[in-house]
Amino acid sequence: MHKIFAKPLFLGKKVVFLPQCHSTNSELVDIARNSHEPEGLVLYTDHQQKGKGQRGNIWIDEPEKNILMSILLRPKYISISEQFYLNIIAGLAIVDTLKVFLGDQVKLKWPNDVYVNDKKISGILIESNLRGNKLESAVVGIGLNVNQKNFALSTASSLHIQTGRIFDRKEIMESLLVFVEKWYLKFKNGSKKNILENYYQILMWRGEKRQFKSADGVFEGEITGIDENGNLKIKTAIEEAVFRIKEIEFIG
Ligand code: BTN
Repeated sequence: MHKIFAKPLFLGKKVVFLPQCHSTNSELVDIARNSHEPEGLVLYTDHQQKGKGQRGNIWIDEPEKNILMSILLRPKYISISEQFYLNIIAGLAIVDTLKVFLGDQVKLKWPNDVYVNDKKISGILIESNLRGNKLESAVVGIGLNVNQKNFALSTASSLHIQTGRIFDRKEIMESLLVFVEKWYLKFKNGSKKNILENYYQILMWRGEKRQFKSADGVFEGEITGIDENGNLKIKTAIEEAVFRIKEIEFIG
């Protein structure tokens, strides 16, 4: 265990590094449930053998190339219906970190995949533990492709592929922690409106006429934003419809 010399107030004050593990999220979920570790604990690794993605997918990494980290939060004041804000907070922090190198091309594809030039460069997986309808703990898992050159999926990219440079992963991680803390504290201080305004600025395809696919088939529409539960709002020629995860596919 060692300290990262980061500037955040509490995120990353305590950092645990595992050379490899099944999943940093799984490890931290166990710690969150079975200890009184305060929020801010960060666990990261050089390789996950069973990395978890959203919707039951796997998250595959080439060892020692990427950022694979999880952050423990104890946001007892957040209700389950507001949990989507944690995704937005993590997404904004990743975009803040990446735009230094990639500029305005970094976007968040709803709900929270990080895209650059139509390729996915980073993903977020939040696993929470509830007490009543409030979040007792939340583990914010971030996978960010940094120095990896080749991917099995043609839709994946990395900072290296986008810039041709090799990056110091620790520096990128420190920046992520600074920005996650910044947005998390904004939320804690009640700045939801400001968070949403910033989210909308980087929301991929917002305000553009695009093709989507729902259970009713392919249709044209324009993303207008999200509703109070984090669901996606799309305006078509006839209505403004709301979609939950798995109900909508982005076509082009
Ligand atoms: C996605 O499917 O887009 C989410 C990917 C999240 C991957 C990260 S890597 C660190 C943390 N540990 C995991 O097992 N998953 C998350």
